[in-house]
This record gives sequence, structure tokens and C-alpha cells, in this order.
Amino acid sequence: MDVDMNTTTNATATNATATNATATPATTSNNTDNAVVGKSQFQLDLEKRQFDSLPWVEKYRPKSIDDLIAHEDITATINKLISNNTLPHLLFYGPPGTGKTSTIQAIARKLYGDNYSRMVLELNASDDRGIDVVRDQIKTFASSMFFFKTSVPYKLIILDEADSMTNIAQTALRRVIEKYTKTTRFCIVCNYVIKIIPALQSRCTRFRFGPLPTAPTEVRLKEIIEKEKVNVTKDGLESILVLGEGDMRKCLNILQSVSMTSKVIDKESIYRCTGYPMQEDIALMVDWLLNEEYASAYKNIIDLKKKKGLSLTDIIKDLQIFLVQVDLDNKTMCRILKDLSDVEYNLATGANEKLQLGFLIGSFQLVRDD
Ligand SMILES: Nc1ncnc2c1ncn2[C@@H]1O[C@H](COP(=O)(O)OP(=O)(O)OP(=O)(O)O)[C@@H](O)[C@H]1O
Ligand SMILES: [Mg+2]
Repeated sequence: MDVDMNTTTNATATNATATNATATPATTSNNTDNAVVGKSQFQLDLEKRQFDSLPWVEKYRPKSIDDLIAHEDITATINKLISNNTLPHLLFYGPPGTGKTSTIQAIARKLYGDNYSRMVLELNASDDRGIDVVRDQIKTFASSMFFFKTSVPYKLIILDEADSMTNIAQTALRRVIEKYTKTTRFCIVCNYVIKIIPALQSRCTRFRFGPLPTAPTEVRLKEIIEKEKVNVTKDGLESILVLGEGDMRKCLNILQSVSMTSKVIDKESIYRCTGYPMQEDIALMVDWLLNEEYASAYKNIIDLKKKKGLSLTDIIKDLQIFLVQVDLDNKTMCRILKDLSDVEYNLATGANEKLQLGFLIGSFQLVRDD
């Protein structure tokens, strides 16, 4: 089963052991916590100050399933599975910042409430992901008995960023999942489902978290803008949405970092602060690439890169988007796009930027001369 979704929750992913799982602290956050009996005013003030100083991605991480934006189909499906008491093993996958971790944490909070820390084991990429973890931590947690009353008859093991697990560990996990299904559900979370071995995939119900749609992301950003009392112009908000590319974490990070350097967050300040190329810069570069001689195209692009602090990797990405809208014949377009992807690959594997820029300009010169 494949479903598409977005979502939720909050908190620092934590390690847990069978006896002492540290859950996303319900205490780091919201007003409801202030109702906790026995907390001194000092403690409450401290918690408030700690909450206020959190990075916005954590401060505004959805706390419950209802706080999540988009991916309603996934949350609805999972809610149904929970209420029918038929929750399967889960596999959440999709690009960064789309709510995979938040969603499973919100689900766990809904399932276990105050028992979260006892019923949930969270492991992420900062933990060792080899066979020993499967043998020790996961098996120990899955096989431990229930020593307290619980309305949910199974525990939950969240394997976040599971694409960094070794194949041997994944293979070992197959058997563990089957053996402990009665008492434990697994949720495997990753960006690249291809890195999860087929045998594990087939033991889980898959949910794909696509990039967050623009409309709900905009609504959420506006809420945060209002709460943080920052001054964002219309073109500023549009720029954040464009640069965010459906990744809420990226949107919030851009918003917060630009708010620290500029009183007014507009298109200009966003591009200046983040170092992404503006459309106008890309249009200029395309003009030079298509019309200037090699030496002046090279000089102009180097100067612009320096002036605006642009990276060739970002330029390549936007060039590709820009070029497909330009009226070029099919063969020329294919040759240029092939070279662009070669440059992108070379840069990703550590090639020299100036040489790659030279190669890119050369590629345009050659197709022009043909
Ligand atoms: N669907 C959503 N609704 C509301 N906020 C969201 C949503 N998705 C992501 N966010 C915001 O983005 C931040 C990152 O989300 P989260 O950690 O859940 O992403 P992820 O999909 O697990 O990303 P990664 O693949 O990089 O681990 C959250 O703290 C939250 O502020
Ligand atoms: Mg995550």
C-alpha cells in the first residue's frame, strides 16, 4: 500500500532503551505543560524562555496530528488503523522537511500519551546503525515485558533516517519484526526508499510524504510570521515558498535567518542572505552563455558569482529550470542538459568549481558553433 502525505510533530529525536526511553519532552513546549502541578514559577519561566529561544523549526514543530499541514490522506488512514486496532508496521519515506518524523512522533504521542517514554524507542542516524543495534537495543526493547497498565497492546520502535542502516542490520531486522509483531510495531522512516531492502519494505505499509503543497505551507508560514512579529513583504513570502520547494524546514530556516539580518524580509534580502541566485541573474547568465565569447562569458559569470556570493551548484539547478523554458531546438537542449547534469555530478563529487564553470561555458560555445 502506498499513500501520500505530510505532517507533524515535535521534538528532538531521542535514543531510548528498553527500560528508559527518552521521549520527545512534552515539557519543552506549550502552555498545557504549564498546568503541570508542582512546578515552581522559576521553572515555568525557565521553560518559557527555553521554548522562546528554540530554533523555529523546533518551536513550531506540530505537537499533534491536528497541527500537521497537508497529507490529510495519510493521517486519516493511520487514524483509522489505530481506531480499528490494526496498526501495521509503517514505512514513511519522502524528501526532507515534509513531516515524516513529526508525524510518527505525533502518532506515538496520541497512542501513548504519558507513557510515551516507556512505550517508544526512537533511534536516528546519530545512533550506531549496525547489526549490534538490532541485536541489542531493538531486540531488548521489543522483547521487554509490560509492567504497567496500557490501553495500547503494543510498543513502537521508530527507526528514523533508516536509509543509513547497514544492509546486514536491515536483514537482521526482518526476523526481529516478524518475531515481535505481537508486542511491537515498527516505523521505518527514510528519504530514499530504494535504500531499504525489499524484504523490509514488504513487511510495512508504505506512506509517501511528498513535498508540501504551496497553499497550506503559506498559511502556516503566515501564522508563524504573525506570532514572531516579523515584517515579510508579499514578494518575500513568495520567495520563501519558491526557495523552500515544499520543505517546511527549509522555509522556516530561511525565514528565521533572514529575520536576524533584515528588518524587512523581502525578495532582495532573502536572496542576498541565502545566496541563492535570482531569476534576473540566471537570465543574465543565460544571455552571456548564449551570446558572448568564451572569455567575456567566463569573466562576467565569475564577477557576478563573486558579487552575489553564488555557488555553481545553485546556478546549475536554476539554469536547468530556466533553460527548459527557452526556445532551443531539441538536440541543442539535450546536449546542454546532459552537460549540466555532468557538471552537477562533478561538483557533488568534489570537482573544482572554476574548471566546471569553464566546462559549462565551453559546452554552450560548442553547441552554438555546431
Ligand atoms: N506537515 C507539516 N506540518 C507542519 N509543519 C511541518 C510539516 N512538515 C514539516 N514541518 C516543519 O518542518 C520541520 C521538519 O519536519 P520533520 O522533521 O517532520 O521532517 P522530515 O520529513 O522528518 O525531514 P527529514 O527527512 O529531513 O528527516 C518540523 O519541525 C516542522 O516545523
Ligand atoms: Mg525526519
